[in-house]
Amino acid sequence: MVSGVTLKIQPDAEGLAQTAADFISAQVREKPDLSILVATGNTPMPAYAELARRVQAGEVDFSRATAVQLDEYLGVTDDDPRSLWDWMRRSFVKPLGITRTVRLKSPAQFEAAVAELSGLDLAILGLGPNGHLGFNEPPSPPDASTRTLELTPASLESNAAYWGELAVPTGAITAGMDLILAARQTLLLVTGAHKRDILHAALDGPETPEVPASFLRRTALTVIADGAAWT
Ligand code: F6R
Repeated sequence: MVSGVTLKIQPDAEGLAQTAADFISAQVREKPDLSILVATGNTPMPAYAELARRVQAGEVDFSRATAVQLDEYLGVTDDDPRSLWDWMRRSFVKPLGITRTVRLKSPAQFEAAVAELSGLDLAILGLGPNGHLGFNEPPSPPDASTRTLELTPASLESNAAYWGELAVPTGAITAGMDLILAARQTLLLVTGAHKRDILHAALDGPETPEVPASFLRRTALTVIADGAAWT
């Protein structure tokens, strides 16, 4: 594996949640006005719940941090259960007592808002089964900008698991690879045997737009994975 990547393997979901919460808490202690790009999806939820517990217990304070939305479906209202904005608010913003947010509405608005924050301090990311980051679907080169796009069949299929009977929206908007890769720290959380091959491709394979996550090695990257995802 490329040097410069910090890889922390945890035996189970609980260990992953604790380790990720430790990492994120340390960042906000060092810089209370941290700007954080926030993934939704299933993987980070136990870590967010652990952070919420720590906030409740007065162990860490996110009140000066800014939560920045990573991705969203197109044509989905706030009260739609598929809204990623609402998922981010429910799982991260409200439980952590965060009052400052940047919503992803349009590429121009988003880029201006991130520039006003002087960039992203921390990007918390999950790994798509096809190597996507946010909705940067393969192929996405490192300079892919914040944009609207059509989701790939692979992502439509994997996202269907979240929404039960509801159809997966086919259009999306995502923070660009350019902004993600410019984050001062990136934290990639990965669980499950089904992510094993793509995690190895991302960390050990060639850097390629076919595996957008492979470009994370250019960043100050910390990967926290469970044993099933890294064996
Ligand atoms: C969600 C997101 C996605 C997920 C990825 C992994 O905001 O950006 O890229 O991080 O699809 O999803 P899970 O964690 O559900 O396996």
